[in-house]
Amino acid sequence: MAKATGRNHMNVIGSLRARILDSIKPTDEEIKLATYRANDIIARLKAVAPKDVEIITAGSVARGTQVRGSYDIDIFLLFPKSRDERKMEAMGLKIAQKIVNKKKGESFIIKYAEHPYVKVLFDGGEISADIVPAFRIRTAAEMGSAVDRTPLHNEFVNKHLNERQKDDVRILKAFLKNHQIYGAEAQVHGFSGYLCELMISNYGSFNGVIGRFADLKLPLIIDVGNKAEIDPKSAEGTALIKQFKTDFIFIDPTDVNRNVAASLSKSSAARFVILAKALMKKADMKTFSGAKYSTIISRDAVIGLHKSMGLDVYLLALESDDIADDIIWEQLVKLKGRICTMLAKNGFPPVLALQNASKSSCIIAFFMNRTNLGSVPLGGPSAFMGGSANAFFKAHKASFGFFLYDDKLISIEKPRHVSAESLLRGLKRDPNFIMPSHIKTAGSFFYSNNDIPEDYAKMLYEAFESARIKHF
Ligand code: UTP
Ligand code: MN
Repeated sequence: MAKATGRNHMNVIGSLRARILDSIKPTDEEIKLATYRANDIIARLKAVAPKDVEIITAGSVARGTQVRGSYDIDIFLLFPKSRDERKMEAMGLKIAQKIVNKKKGESFIIKYAEHPYVKVLFDGGEISADIVPAFRIRTAAEMGSAVDRTPLHNEFVNKHLNERQKDDVRILKAFLKNHQIYGAEAQVHGFSGYLCELMISNYGSFNGVIGRFADLKLPLIIDVGNKAEIDPKSAEGTALIKQFKTDFIFIDPTDVNRNVAASLSKSSAARFVILAKALMKKADMKTFSGAKYSTIISRDAVIGLHKSMGLDVYLLALESDDIADDIIWEQLVKLKGRICTMLAKNGFPPVLALQNASKSSCIIAFFMNRTNLGSVPLGGPSAFMGGSANAFFKAHKASFGFFLYDDKLISIEKPRHVSAESLLRGLKRDPNFIMPSHIKTAGSFFYSNNDIPEDYAKMLYEAFESARIKHF
């Protein structure tokens, strides 16, 4: 059983529950429309798919765990396991595209996860359906690809969650969405829909989840199938931490070799712990909803930050290729990390560094103390290391002199970059600085403080607001 926390957390949100559900549970009309759409898609698919392909709805719409206004219909084409995998994929894409009725304004895009699938947009994009090819399996042991498990997830959720708990899944999803940690995709590295379902199943309710997470310590290992928390110090616990290479583990009840929380980042988990604490302390609508991103002028907001924090805000404008968001985001985060390291090495450690991406443009921004370097000490080898010491003397002719820190040589010389600004401006022309494969510098690359244009300022301010923890 889940550990009791010693506090009565059984009713953390109390009467707030009804108010929240009132605003996030899909309306009857919405459910009707989604059901109509799902049935319509299945009928169309059945008309064009071979007889041995089973067609089912999966995901939150099939399970009754979707949040109002923000869900997609997940339809799976289940092929017999005997098919060749590549053929199954190609056939899946073909079948899915056949049902798109362009005359009705419907359109589709091919998306790439572990396997390619088709996203069809209906009703002017208001409803979209992901049509995903997979193999039909009975147990995880028969699995060919990760999506094959999805029908098993359907089964588990429908068997183990009652209506009230499904509503609690919706509340949990909404809470996480409000605080930008819902979704397993690379931009978020947050809690996936299925992980939310498992958390509610394991702790019984939203209140139970909040109560447990408010004083969570890592490692956490949950065996959802057995509703058991495994002691991380036990032999079993140590082995699991080693197997999954992480200290936050929710074992998939449909597949013991899968950690459902695999893509959850440490900072998303930490953010949730802080939020759970905040909700325990004060369960009101404001804490639940988080600060709303306002429609203020972002340029002014950024200038305000620059002035009040006493920092310079530098922004690099970038352009990205038209490929999967996940890939762009990962390259962007890595690029930011590399530039941060470079800045720090040159004597300019950023106070804060943020990134954001929109359709085709990305930004990286740095909040910096204004530092101008005159001369810097460059560390060398010990004077007792003859060969290296000679090499150091030779390599630093233009120095203002050599000195000793104990036995170690230092050379005092002009820095390669006198300011963070000159370092960042220079990146664009630095042949040693390699940009990631799908990101390039924009025509106008460097902006600071007062001259950041509104569209970039918006991306920056949004990143700042969603990174900042609003409670505590
Ligand atoms: P979705 O991402 O659409 O999640 O994946 P969801 O549960 O329907 O939640 P919302 O309400 O749309 O946000 C659909 C299903 O595909 C499986 C899960 O079973 C999930 O419920 N899935 C998805 C995975 O197994 N792994 C993934 O990485 C993504
Ligand atoms: Mn879904």
